Amino acid sequence: MSRVARPRLVVASQNPGKAREIGRLFPDYEVLSLAGLAPVDFPEEGGDYAENARTKALVAARATGLPCVADDSGLEVEALGGAPGPYSARYGGPGLDDRGRYEALLGALRDVAPPRRARFVCHAAVATPDGRSALAEGACRGEILESAHGEGGFGYDPVFRPEGHQRSMAELSREEKDALSHRGRAFEALRREVAALLGRDG
Ligand code: IMP
Repeated sequence: MSRVARPRLVVASQNPGKAREIGRLFPDYEVLSLAGLAPVDFPEEGGDYAENARTKALVAARATGLPCVADDSGLEVEALGGAPGPYSARYGGPGLDDRGRYEALLGALRDVAPPRRARFVCHAAVATPDGRSALAEGACRGEILESAHGEGGFGYDPVFRPEGHQRSMAELSREEKDALSHRGRAFEALRREVAALLGRDG
């Protein structure tokens, strides 16, 4: 019996939490991580999610010679005028870990009464080594909690409660997060583009 090889797809992310999530959204592909494939220097990110996502995917696709997917994502807090947005990974200053960043956010919102409305945004990109690319986006509305809850996920998940749920994002199972998250939605929308670029049926 002949087995059809699954097409290879590289996840272009240096954030392990994010790379894990993107990888499991492509069960029909042989998903490879960038680490160990090729040294890639991503340019400093700017304020445009879509541009950042496309650049990461294109740079990684050229460096590896393989199709790559990437995302650029962030948390937008209404009371902060949409900040930290595309700068979420750097919020609170250099040297902070995920916990330091969400604690900085809780501090900035100390005097803001609930509900502190927010949304996660994700722009997903796929690119091929010959320079073709496609984009899709997804969002997840919710609010910032007053303290951290849960151990799952990464980043701001412990302090974000998705709309319609009683638990934080970090208290959801992987399957629950994938079904409602900004990233799950963006890559769901990108799936057809990935199949088309790789010459497969969607
Ligand atoms: P970037 O896309 O590499 O610029 O990083 C996005 C940053 O937004 C991450 O480092 C996290 O701080 C935050 N972020 C994005 N998606 C999520 C998520 O699903 N959960 C929690 N935090 C997230």
